[in-house]
Amino acid sequence: MSAGITGVGKYVPERILTNQDLEKIVDTNDEWIRTRTGIEERRIADDDVDTADMAYQASKQAIENAEIKPEEIDLILVATVTPDKSFPTVSCMLQERLGATKAAAMDISAACAGFMYGVITAKQFIDTGVYKHVLVVGAEKLSKITDWKDRNTCVLFGDGAGAAVIGKVSGDRGIKSFELGADGAGGKYLQQKDNYIQMNGREVFKFAVRQMPESSLNVVKQAGLSKEDVDYLVPHQANIRIMEAARNKLDIPVDKMATSVKKYGNTSSASIPIALAEAVESGDVKDDDFVVLVGFGGGLTWGAVGLKWGK
Ligand code: COA
Repeated sequence: MSAGITGVGKYVPERILTNQDLEKIVDTNDEWIRTRTGIEERRIADDDVDTADMAYQASKQAIENAEIKPEEIDLILVATVTPDKSFPTVSCMLQERLGATKAAAMDISAACAGFMYGVITAKQFIDTGVYKHVLVVGAEKLSKITDWKDRNTCVLFGDGAGAAVIGKVSGDRGIKSFELGADGAGGKYLQQKDNYIQMNGREVFKFAVRQMPESSLNVVKQAGLSKEDVDYLVPHQANIRIMEAARNKLDIPVDKMATSVKKYGNTSSASIPIALAEAVESGDVKDDDFVVLVGFGGGLTWGAVGLKWGK
């Protein structure tokens, strides 16, 4: 028995900001945003809703879905670049609100690849037998670090949270392979500066269209499989063109890739668990499917997992 995902959950704020709404704020248009990014709308959290609130909603669902009690959780890892405060961490706030009294708790900072860093860290604790249940959350309130005057970035991001419980799964299911990486030299291309997200879009694009396909293929090979064996792809939801590069590399059909980017934009560390939770809920991901999760982000960072789905 190896480590796998035993439950998933998600939360997105109700408030929708469409491309048409953005046309009134900055010099942009729906056509430009849709054709360059695939994004049609994104969710924005109210002022009184913070990262921990969204993390809590997604986590509650994931814990229910995993059919465990909060008291059984051994460790909480929250991937976020938009914590409510630098301390206490979002994971500690979450531990209290969930009543996960036994759990150790820490935040992980690896930008949009944060959820992948969390899942792969959780896997180590499960595989060694040290812990039974690890809650991994990706939660972001990116709207609070978005420069609403900068059309290069403000059209891209949204708020939300996704969560997964990692534990032992049955038979030959579970995480078969993983890859993590970082390239600090590229940090300057995507950073928080003067409180806001600043980005060299072209450089990030070049990095992402190279890294996402490469990491996806690497985890397939490392699992001893070939691309024909991939049933579903959940890439970081940053830009449909980047996601397409990964899909083409794996040679899989359009309907075998999660594409919630059009509804939620880029929610950073939350994008993969939100997309995964929706794919599980809709039945796009089924028991025994071989699923690839792959992400990249500021740092620069990246991570991928190949897993056979199911408890
Ligand atoms: N609306 C209208 N025009 C815009 C715009 C907007 N929201 N944002 C930028 N433009 C303009 C640019 O100013 C540029 O004009 P110029 O040529 O007069 O300078 C023009 O559109 C083309 O910009 P370009 O950068 O060539 O577009 P692109 O095809 O590279 O797409 C991104 C831009 C940002 C969509 C793309 O580079 C990208 O997705 N990069 C990766 C971003 C990412 O994933 N970040 C998160 C990582 S986790």
